[in-house]
Amino acid sequence: MQSSHFGKDFLWGVATAAAQIEGAANAYGKGPSIWDTFSKRSGKIKKGHQPTEACDFYHRYKEDIALVKTLGFTVFRFSISWSRIFPLGDGAVNKEGVAFYHNVIDECLKLDLIPMVTLYHWDLPEALSKEGGWTAFGINAWFNDYVSFCAKEYGAKVKQWIVINEPFGFTSLGYMLGVHAPGQTGVHNFFEAALHTAIAQADGAKILRGEVKGAVIGTAFSCSEIVPYTQSAPDLLAAKRTDALMNRFFLEPVLGLGFPTANWEVLEKFAISHSTWRYQERMKFDFDFIGIQNYFPLVIRYNAFIPVVQAWEVKAKNRRAPHTAMGWEVNADSFYRIIRQFAAYPQVKNIMVTENGAYFQDHLVDGKINDQARIDYFKAYLAAMLKAKNDGVNITGYLAWTLLDNFEWAEGYQARFGIVYNDFKTQQRTIKQSGYWWQEFLSR
Ligand code: GAL
Repeated sequence: MQSSHFGKDFLWGVATAAAQIEGAANAYGKGPSIWDTFSKRSGKIKKGHQPTEACDFYHRYKEDIALVKTLGFTVFRFSISWSRIFPLGDGAVNKEGVAFYHNVIDECLKLDLIPMVTLYHWDLPEALSKEGGWTAFGINAWFNDYVSFCAKEYGAKVKQWIVINEPFGFTSLGYMLGVHAPGQTGVHNFFEAALHTAIAQADGAKILRGEVKGAVIGTAFSCSEIVPYTQSAPDLLAAKRTDALMNRFFLEPVLGLGFPTANWEVLEKFAISHSTWRYQERMKFDFDFIGIQNYFPLVIRYNAFIPVVQAWEVKAKNRRAPHTAMGWEVNADSFYRIIRQFAAYPQVKNIMVTENGAYFQDHLVDGKINDQARIDYFKAYLAAMLKAKNDGVNITGYLAWTLLDNFEWAEGYQARFGIVYNDFKTQQRTIKQSGYWWQEFLSR
């Protein structure tokens, strides 16, 4: 398999996110984000790590973007930190922050790389979180102001846009389970945040469409094939509900189908109490591409003690299935099947894999970072994607997660997903064997 098998227009890139790489978290006029404050106070991040310095991309962006080029990619995906542009979320603009993203974009263009901008990759301004964040009624107006600003400011140079990164990821982990920023819990908070997010996703896309000539607009969904543990009726139901939440909940509103609430009392109540049908039209948008981000499948079993979903994950290690250092099952066939599941909606015209990658322990051998497991992972997942493409699925790009080892949210700096190793003490970058593998793969 070589990259040319995917066609000459296929987009190959790496994906990153502001809070995970930038650092300079309280410098150059940036306001705090929820990840800055959550990492300080919650005690929920491994080893008490904080994103304050991260990979120091803020100062090293030129070197890092040059690496993207050296490795042979054509797309650099990065996100804008909302509180670097609007330190308080809305109102006064931080000119230095605005200039920083111009510099990043210009650097990409100078090297003939396509800049792909994510507008929201989880780092909400803390000032807005104090007002309720994604659960607040005002969030849609704040978000729209922010999107309009970015579209007007950068739209002449940036054509590839992703509105929101993994709506299910941050609304469930951050507002229901409390393990991510802002650390809120409860199904009520989740529903409030989810409705506002689904609206923001389409509103943001419509603003981009109006402001940016020639924009290619997508949004990025997390997805996982859901496999029932047994064929028993309770396990099947548990799997079906997990699928509705994890794969369909944010996708279907975009396609004009509304939230998938049928035959599930808790969701039906949410739909009624929030009159979600009123927003059906507003949540819809004809995206140029649907971004999918896949890391693992889930095997699901019924469990009466788990609120709402009554579903429980049977972990890969307990099933003796191959898994990464995160405990995530390695299963390229499931990647193929989830691509097919998303592509089966007639409204989905174009799929881009906007994240995929793995954390494995890296080993230093003969002065090289030997990460054969990561190479094997990429090979298998790319082969699965090629199979889906050859079946006729319109897949137009693939972005590896990620360029550099970075601040991996609640896992802190321990979980290394990079194809380039980062020494967080010296900020020295070292290309891993997987990085060289990519370079070779992309050259043919
Ligand atoms: C995604 C997320 C990324 C990255 C990745 C690996 O869900 O969008 O920011 O952390 O998972 O865990």
